[in-house]
Amino acid sequence: MSAQPLLEVSHVSRIIDGKTILDDVSLSLGRGELKVIIGPSGGGKSTLLQCVNFLQPPDSGDVFLDGQSAREMSRQNICAFRQKIGMIFQDFNLFDHLCARDNVAIALQKVKGQKKALARQRAMAELERVGLVEQAHLYPSQLSGGQKQRVSLARALAMDPMVMLLDEPTSALDPELIGEVLNVIAQLSRSGMTMLMVTHQIGFARHLTKEIIFMEAGRVVETGPPELLEGGPEGGRAAAFCAKLAEVTGR
Ligand SMILES: Nc1ncnc2c1ncn2[C@@H]1O[C@H](COP(=O)(O)OP(=O)(O)OP(=O)(O)O)[C@@H](O)[C@H]1O
Ligand SMILES: [Mg+2]
Repeated sequence: MSAQPLLEVSHVSRIIDGKTILDDVSLSLGRGELKVIIGPSGGGKSTLLQCVNFLQPPDSGDVFLDGQSAREMSRQNICAFRQKIGMIFQDFNLFDHLCARDNVAIALQKVKGQKKALARQRAMAELERVGLVEQAHLYPSQLSGGQKQRVSLARALAMDPMVMLLDEPTSALDPELIGEVLNVIAQLSRSGMTMLMVTHQIGFARHLTKEIIFMEAGRVVETGPPELLEGGPEGGRAAAFCAKLAEVTGR
């Protein structure tokens, strides 16, 4: 087994308007690993994901994908680097004027220069993977939130990413739609996809990840196995946060 992590975030800091948003954050992901980031609002989770793919270049520190330093890459290589990292956002980011199939195909045509017919063929294969073949011709306005999020997963997968970053992929969904999206993510994880996911779905985190990363005020304050989340208000910071979350959501 190769000892080198697939993704390594090394001492990343980010300062915006004189305020430290990320303070010396390090983490690593082995091939096929799923790690979950949890923590209070404003703690820097989304900023961290954007630093990982250099959408927001960190002020210090670096990110290594398969051993390659993002900081040392030319502008052109950074584009290629970003293409290897799939991003899933809470609000889906689909094109309203394109059907599900073409939302997936368009990236292949524009970014990878594929011919329309081939791109559409691949799009259908990815829609099948997320269980949406029958909805391929529907537009975002005709899809449920869970279906829209699955289209955005299909779109990211079509780009053959080495790693996927997911920023609260289910937080905009009605409770009954959360499961269908988490099921697809779980299935992807089992198929060997490497993923870093911000989520407050504690049950999912407990069952599917070996490591939880708890972030607060721009720092990683605790990391460990899902048991980190046990212990209630008397436990560590992550456990206290989960107990609070359970109190609010009644779960
Ligand atoms: N472009 C920006 N300009 C100024 N401040 C910013 C900017 N982006 C983020 N911040 C600040 O950085 C901090 C971290 O924000 P971030 O969105 O990363 O937190 P988060 O952990 O994802 O929160 P949430 O759980 O609410 O999504 C917040 O205080 C936010 O106001
Ligand atoms: Mg966020």
